[in-house]
Amino acid sequence: MTGQHRVEIDTGKPHPARMYDWYLGGKDNYPVDEAMGRQMLTLDPRVPVMARVNRAFMHRATRWLARNGTRQFLDVGTGIPTEPNLHRVAQEVAPDARVVYCDNDPIVLAHAAALLRGAPEGATDYLQADVRDPDAILEGARKILDFDRPVALSLVALLHFVSDEDGAHDLVGRLLAELPSGSHLVMTHATADFTPEESRAATEKLKAAGVTLALRSREEFTRFFDGLDLIEPGVVVPHLWHPELGEPVAEQDDGVVPGYGAVARKP
Ligand SMILES: C[S@@+](CC[C@H](N)C(=O)[O-])C[C@H]1O[C@@H](n2cnc3c(N)ncnc32)[C@H](O)[C@@H]1O
Repeated sequence: MTGQHRVEIDTGKPHPARMYDWYLGGKDNYPVDEAMGRQMLTLDPRVPVMARVNRAFMHRATRWLARNGTRQFLDVGTGIPTEPNLHRVAQEVAPDARVVYCDNDPIVLAHAAALLRGAPEGATDYLQADVRDPDAILEGARKILDFDRPVALSLVALLHFVSDEDGAHDLVGRLLAELPSGSHLVMTHATADFTPEESRAATEKLKAAGVTLALRSREEFTRFFDGLDLIEPGVVVPHLWHPELGEPVAEQDDGVVPGYGAVARKP
């Protein structure tokens, strides 16, 4: 594991990683996370479905990439371990796949050993870093990944926690700039496009609790992929991205999951 190793968990305010864990039925969350999670449910009872749909998208996108030749993955905003984690999905298809995980939340660091348990040594690592510091991520990732060969950069359910003021679009550009042709960008992102009222209320509640939620429109989401070639079917609600690859969660209704997902290739 690389990065800072001091773990200080703030149980006084909700954290995205722990709320997400609560939505997924995990045990690594605190009363403050559950309380905020329940408040979110009163605004939109579909949030746990969104979490499962998102997780299933990550599995399908990873499977698609591994089947199409990707052997290196950089997963930023990994979250608390939830089986199967990305390396298991990738290494099931390609046992030689290399994976670097990265998150800025101390609770994810606290679980990093469990995340990596059983993973092939030297092929999987965890890096404690913030996506707003792309240079630190690139430096850490180079210890495991060969940047002369394609890398799949996955930012799954992450960038809605990063504001425009913090340069969300630029930092994706910075990370991609170091990756060679044939690399991919994998993203999901929450949006207010389908449920503007509920989304505004959720954003305000989270802001009052100290959590940034930067919901983006379809156009703003699509802009993350400027200069890349979108893989079919392009930008869609996440459950409609290659459902044939397994684990369908929601029905075919665009309104079911207020988010977008896409995968694109760097030419
Ligand atoms: C909703 S979870 C998504 C987890 C996983 N990617 C998935 O889709 O199943 C968002 C994760 O992003 C992490 N995160 C939020 N802001 C971050 C930042 N600025 N830098 C790195 N990670 C961050 C949180 O700690 C959390 O683990």
